[in-house]
Amino acid sequence: MAREVRVHPGDLVLPVFVKEGLTEPVEIASMPGVLQHSRESLRRAVSEAADAGLAGVMLFGVPAVRDAVGSGATDPDGILNLAIADAVEAGGGRLVVMADLCLDEFTDHGHCGVLRTNAAGEPVVDNDATLERYVDMALAQARAGAHLLGLSGMMDDQTGAVRDALDEAGFQDVTLLAYAAKYASVFYGPFRDAVESTLTGDRMTYQMDPANRREAAREVALDVEQGADVVMVKPALPYLDVLADVAATSAVPVAAYQVSGEYAMIEAAAANGWIDRRRAIEESVLAIRRAGADLVLTYWATELARWLAEPTPNGSTR
Ligand code: PBG
Repeated sequence: MAREVRVHPGDLVLPVFVKEGLTEPVEIASMPGVLQHSRESLRRAVSEAADAGLAGVMLFGVPAVRDAVGSGATDPDGILNLAIADAVEAGGGRLVVMADLCLDEFTDHGHCGVLRTNAAGEPVVDNDATLERYVDMALAQARAGAHLLGLSGMMDDQTGAVRDALDEAGFQDVTLLAYAAKYASVFYGPFRDAVESTLTGDRMTYQMDPANRREAAREVALDVEQGADVVMVKPALPYLDVLADVAATSAVPVAAYQVSGEYAMIEAAAANGWIDRRRAIEESVLAIRRAGADLVLTYWATELARWLAEPTPNGSTR
């Protein structure tokens, strides 16, 4: 009766991985219960997500071959673009098909953009050359039928560049979710297993410093100004203060991403019998909603949505 917030299946988005060339899905070692999907098993996962009433699925591609510029990301026959079309068909208009728009899954060096050599002779990410790749990637994803693009690369001005290119090409209705406040976090560790990416160096030059709270407001303002329809805070649990700030001031809906490391910690503790798995999942997502997230991306989305559909003792919904 006195609850201030609730979790509803329609608040949840399931991130899913699809790997090129797989005939059977493979479990990710550091994310027990999460699969690298084949194209066929992806269709089933999308259809189950729709049956559970989720808001959407966020697709990540795992290509068979990588190169310096991430060619697989812009190839219409690249795994992510094929998976988008598969998911749109399997979803049948019942949920939002979202695609990760970033190069790190597709580059051989593991960075979110293309590299240049700086004055000291070191390889660094080239922000503006990367924007050109993001524009091509956005067009490929929109042509494949994606409803929403998740701009997760943290390049400056990526939202504006992609919005302009989509509008010009007739994709005015493709929605943009900007990972506005994305921190350079250790909690993305298991994700690298999931997409089989090895990173040379770190992402401190383009992702945010975990020490910075105020900077999130500047990042959000820039993305909203450039046309973001939804803004994201990521990771979720270690950044609830940032999430609460952004939720209090954002002009657009706010998403939070409960990332791979957050997932792995709860699963590992539960597997050891150190924590009640179901209650930990329910409480963590509830806390993310309480801090102000309208949408929560979580690897437990389908399972949690099914629990939410269970009748309460008095027969009412949760
Ligand atoms: C970038 C991207 C990452 C995650 C989502 N999108 C990796 C990174 O920025 O290092 C991490 C998600 C997770 O850890 O669950 N494509």
